[in-house]
Amino acid sequence: MGYVGLIQSIGLAEIGFEVVGVEIDKEKVEKLNKGIPTIYEKGVEELLKRNLSRLEFTSSYEKIKECDVIFICVGTPQDKHGKPNLNFVFSAVESIKNNLNDGYKIIAVKSTVPVGTNRKIREILKEEEVDIVSNPEFLREGSALEDFFNPDRVVLGFENEKKEKAKEIMLRIYKSFRDKGVPFLITNWETAEMIKYASNAFLATKISFINEIGNICKKLGIDVYEVVKGMSYDKRIGKEFLNAGIGFGGSCFSKDVKALIAKAKEIGEEARILEEVIKVNEKQPLKIFEIIRRKGIDLKNKKVAVLGLTFKPNTDDVRESRAIVVIKKLLEEGAIIYASDPMGIENMRKIFPENENLKYLFDPQEAVDKSEIVLLLTEWPNFKELNFGDKLIIDGRNIVPKEKRKNLNYEGVCW
Ligand code: UGA
Repeated sequence: MGYVGLIQSIGLAEIGFEVVGVEIDKEKVEKLNKGIPTIYEKGVEELLKRNLSRLEFTSSYEKIKECDVIFICVGTPQDKHGKPNLNFVFSAVESIKNNLNDGYKIIAVKSTVPVGTNRKIREILKEEEVDIVSNPEFLREGSALEDFFNPDRVVLGFENEKKEKAKEIMLRIYKSFRDKGVPFLITNWETAEMIKYASNAFLATKISFINEIGNICKKLGIDVYEVVKGMSYDKRIGKEFLNAGIGFGGSCFSKDVKALIAKAKEIGEEARILEEVIKVNEKQPLKIFEIIRRKGIDLKNKKVAVLGLTFKPNTDDVRESRAIVVIKKLLEEGAIIYASDPMGIENMRKIFPENENLKYLFDPQEAVDKSEIVLLLTEWPNFKELNFGDKLIIDGRNIVPKEKRKNLNYEGVCW
């Protein structure tokens, strides 16, 4: 019942299915059964409460005996070699294996897993009366329920064309999407697995691409956001995911791109573009410090407001947030930090506990007022309204509206 599992459970319950959510953390189970969300995500509380009669959360795998389709939604965190750690996946598979009854079941893999994983799961379950379906997830945090009900596509990978029964059941599960005209791609396991990685890698590439263009534009005195506007009229280019700034964070892009690079290496291929995507992204938040250096500012004992701790707005998730890189470097350079975020403070505290050089303030205006330099790292809408006075503002996400900039001591990170 992590991010993917909870959204899938609530979403399927809302459509009308009876759903059992298995979660080993008993505290989470207790909360969810009471209708208390365990993640922050728009709409989750309402839908969870509304569908409690069709939802049952439990720590016992026993319950899956009653289910026809089992979705595996466990995390695949990155190991120290940049590869996804599949321990949770295989342990879930073992637990499923130990709790199957005689009837036919489908096991649908929603976790992001490297090419070849669905085949390995089949190996483990070779004696069982199950079909394995690769059903990758394309949700975005912050709009996960919206994405669940209005997906751009549904991808279903099967062992082979003979799996008519599995196909028929999976299509029935997502019938309401098909009725709405959502495109379905029916393919094999490996292709489905690769679609997920290639999609995330492409989106990450767009971001690093535009950041590189932005860096060049800044030196040439050009506004990259104007450039993107001009580019985006070309239908082949579009305007999505071309917001230049301090780079991508979150639990997926960096992990998935690195996993794809690792897979390429494993098979003796190079993934040169993807390697650069990661390198550009790692350097991008450091552009802030280039600007500070260029202005001849010594950060020792300088008071700096860090506004925006989450990896994007409308979530409390700080995983791989650019703010982590920025705070670390500010602390190294001896700055005094006033950090603020509407939702991310509690999670960031776990990474950087408060100390004499780092204070968390809920009110962003207070953080601004106490500081000499203001860093804007996440595009929370309320940051636009702040009164910056004559402080140096370094905008990492194109937050301050253009007309407001003229009267400010303002620098965009790459515009
Ligand atoms: C991403 C994908 O967008 C989802 O399709 C995918 O399902 C998900 O990963 C996953 O694999 O689980 P998510 O990480 O929730 O979703 O967030 P995004 O909206 O993609 O943003 C990721 C990061 O890129 C954020 O830090 C955001 O600020 C940054 N970004 C995004 C940019 O810097 N520029 C842009 O133009 C867009």
